[in-house]
Amino acid sequence: MALEVAGSTPAGHPNPEVRAQSTGTAYVSAWLARRAALAVRRGPGGTPALDWRAMCDEHWDAVDAYTTGCLQPADPVLDAAIRDSASLPNIAVAPAQGQFLHLLARAVKARRILEIGTLGGYSAIWLGRALPDDGRLISLEISDEHAAVARRNIERAGLDNRVEVRVAPALDTLAQLKADHEAPFDLVFIDADKRNTPAYFAAAVDLAHIGSLIVVDNVVRQGKLIDLESDDPDAMGMRRLIEQMASERRITPAVIQTVGVKGWDGFAFALVIG
Ligand code: SAH
Ligand code: DHB
Ligand code: MG
Repeated sequence: MALEVAGSTPAGHPNPEVRAQSTGTAYVSAWLARRAALAVRRGPGGTPALDWRAMCDEHWDAVDAYTTGCLQPADPVLDAAIRDSASLPNIAVAPAQGQFLHLLARAVKARRILEIGTLGGYSAIWLGRALPDDGRLISLEISDEHAAVARRNIERAGLDNRVEVRVAPALDTLAQLKADHEAPFDLVFIDADKRNTPAYFAAAVDLAHIGSLIVVDNVVRQGKLIDLESDDPDAMGMRRLIEQMASERRITPAVIQTVGVKGWDGFAFALVIG
């Protein structure tokens, strides 16, 4: 079987990590060749089952390079946002995840989005692009430096009329949004300091309406979620989140693990139902 990897797309990929290993396509080919060779050795009908346990980051990266290479057109604005975020921690969502957030925002026809944790505005651009012209995204960030980078990236994306970055500890801004009787948000993306995630989640439910979607990033963290011996406050924050979701009657929950260029992690989802 020939697996054609679309032309030069991984080499032109917006994520420098994917670009740097644009030979990711080579991983895919090598892996398919190995599988084909095994099948020949096994004889007729002998295509081996995929050895999932032997698959690791380089395969995940290769699959991301292939799928986003095919499904994400060249995007100078996102490229520039990543380039100009180089001085910030490299912890924005992966391109595939940004695209998924965009799809979710469109699926729920979000007109008002709340993001907690802006960084350089990469996820904000994906989400902001899902909004109608008169839509609104409020993104909360504690760092002046991150917010300055994000604002430039958001402006270059032509989204500064829709996307606002508010600089303060998110708990303070969330309290302010409540005090201001801010209209409810259709989508909330929680992606800031992990230890405060339970408090962000509670605030998100309060700032939502029936039908709103809450998405939480970094729930699994290489499996640290279930390391009960760890007293890492970030992992404990995510465990408390799961318990909170289990007992919160106003939402219906789901958790999905993810792999790809950002490693092994996961998202939690909550649909607000009451
Ligand atoms: N959503 C971004 C990534 C966010 S990284 C993207 O995918 O592109 C997490 C961000 O949360 C960092 O910029 C960090 O400065 C910010 N942050 C950390 N603690 C915070 C707090 N208490 N209030 C608001 N923002 C916070
Ligand atoms: C970290 C934060 C994130 O939001 C993320 O997606 C990955 C890592 C971090 O703080 O290490
Ligand atoms: Mg994150």
